[in-house]
Amino acid sequence: MTEDQKTRQKKAAVIGWPISHSLSPTIHNHWMQAAGIDGSYDKIAVGPEAIETALAQFKAEGYAGFNVTVPHKEAIMPFLDKVAPLARQMGAVNTVKIADDGTMTGFNTDGIGLVTNLKKTVPGWPKDKPVLILGAGGAARAAALGLLMEEVPLVMITNRTRAKAEAIANEIGRGRMTVVDWDDRADAVAAAGLIVNTTVLGMKGQPALEMDLSKAMKDTVVYDIVYQPLMTPLLQDAEARSLRVVTGLGMLVYQAAAAFKIWFGVDVDYDDTLRAELEGQF
Ligand code: ATR
Repeated sequence: MTEDQKTRQKKAAVIGWPISHSLSPTIHNHWMQAAGIDGSYDKIAVGPEAIETALAQFKAEGYAGFNVTVPHKEAIMPFLDKVAPLARQMGAVNTVKIADDGTMTGFNTDGIGLVTNLKKTVPGWPKDKPVLILGAGGAARAAALGLLMEEVPLVMITNRTRAKAEAIANEIGRGRMTVVDWDDRADAVAAAGLIVNTTVLGMKGQPALEMDLSKAMKDTVVYDIVYQPLMTPLLQDAEARSLRVVTGLGMLVYQAAAAFKIWFGVDVDYDDTLRAELEGQF
């Protein structure tokens, strides 16, 4: 490999549509600089019809890899040479590594990102108790898989559209997932050591999630993967009840850390400089 190709291999990017609000360039460029990697991470708007062309371009330009976000996480799969088993189970890819020979492998780091953020924020989270997941989209599937891998005893899942929760429980639950009716979610709180909101409710421009936390145990942890705003109405309510809370920004950071490791083989963390840089953007 020539010196020029080596340099070009340090390039990475995120593709999505739209992409203008992505915080991923801030995160990856911070780590590249900190690790002394001479490269860059860009955000590239790629429409649904342009996926194949973008991939060919990344390969030709010697990219180390790229992230994939909405709406391409599922659509990208047929264009890849390989898909890692966990990403296959999630039915979605958020990270692609391009090997020196151009082979493209898809991974999904969302589940590990969610779990790492939880462990770093609340090291003593009650993992011996059931988890309650709200929502049944791609993020819920990633959360369920990530938490099942942590050997939690049971994952309860609840969703406005019950059939979607049932599909996830049937596909990945292996007897360790149960479906709770959306209208009964306040009762399920009583048994949960961890409550994770994966719905869009509480996000800027969306209605708040209606969630009665009055039955929560004292050591229950409330986790919202929404990070705009950082303290959602759900987390504000949890904090007012003296429950421990986990904000969603760390999930974004730690899924990125796992991607960074896949591309560059370097371990990185959510350091204070990065925290200030990210929180300054809100
Ligand atoms: P992602 O893949 O990012 O998880 P998604 O697939 O769009 O996103 O899922 C959004 C989640 O928010 C779903 O669980 C959705 O519930 P439905 O499956 O019933 O659509 C949930 N959601 C969105 N708006 C909601 C609302 N007003 N009330 C309750 N749940 C809502």
